[in-house]
Amino acid sequence: MPVTTPTAAAIAEAGSLIRAGALVAFPTETVYGLGADATNPNAVAAIFTAKGRPSFNPLIVHVADLAAAEALAELPPLAIELARQFWPGPLTLVANRRADARIAPAVTAGLGTIAVRVPGNDVALALLAAAGVPVAAPSANRSGHVSPTRAEHVAADLADRVAMILDGGASERGLESTVLDVSEEPWRLLRHGSIPAEAIEQVLGHQLVHATHAGPDHGSAPASPGQLLNHYAPRARVRLDIASPETGEGLIAFGPQVPPHDGPCINLSPSGDLAEAAARLYAALRELDAAGVASIAVVPIPKTGLGAAISDRLSRAAAGRPPGSGG
Ligand code: TXA
Ligand code: MG
Repeated sequence: MPVTTPTAAAIAEAGSLIRAGALVAFPTETVYGLGADATNPNAVAAIFTAKGRPSFNPLIVHVADLAAAEALAELPPLAIELARQFWPGPLTLVANRRADARIAPAVTAGLGTIAVRVPGNDVALALLAAAGVPVAAPSANRSGHVSPTRAEHVAADLADRVAMILDGGASERGLESTVLDVSEEPWRLLRHGSIPAEAIEQVLGHQLVHATHAGPDHGSAPASPGQLLNHYAPRARVRLDIASPETGEGLIAFGPQVPPHDGPCINLSPSGDLAEAAARLYAALRELDAAGVASIAVVPIPKTGLGAAISDRLSRAAAGRPPGSGG
């Protein structure tokens, strides 16, 4: 069993494993990542194989600080301002790749841009320091499945495919980073995530263009390749905005008002707190799958602030899981 307590010795070993080209799963504040040396083509290829991820879907490069990000990406001054505000933390910036960036081409799926972020988690930052290389890391789940917010979720999906899983406990935020494309004007929000769009807009002083629903029929260039695909899907069917669940159906509730039900029920936040709901969402989907329900009903959840990211993931879960899909 590769699940390991992140002692100083374990983190040093994990850093050596990354440098040697192995895959190490590690906690971040959003979800667990499946990390490899971003400069090593074979190590990066192993990420795509382990996840069953399509090669056209590029990876986020995790770095220790802003200076390391600037060595890879051409960050405009206002993007540096955002980085100062939100890093370490769940903001991913997609920027033009520096010509001299030493990154395996598969990381960026052949695009001229690169996605970078500094994760807001002490174990992740210690691992980056120990590895001493930029670490490419998608969420540590099989492609198309629900993202992992606990070490045991990673083990369930990938145990036999990783050298080590650093156990950092339950992810603090529970939803992926917000992805913002600053490579050209106007900047576009590519993925709703743990930093609400409103918080970024407040720093920028204007509203963002949302490309979060861009798809093949919304213009020629795919905005964020991973977002074209349905994913984050449990095995069970997911039904949204349900006021009264069917007999035996699993129920995801939110807030003090829980509709009558006779199947298993998980309340994401009895007090109606969106941050608490975000942190619990993925584990709830996995738990109801484990309970064996064929269908999961979800009560209406507000769609503003963090609710936008929750709603995005739930709609994708409800859309089902095509074979060989996204992140
Ligand atoms: O919170 C997170 O971001 C987690 C943790 C592990 O850091 N990672 C994560 O990675 O969610 P992944 O691979 O599941 O999602 C990365 C997203 C995908 O939608 C991908 O298409 C997009 O970022 N992306 C990466 N590089 C890009 C680029 N150069 N241009 C546009 N989109 C990009
Ligand atoms: Mg993912």
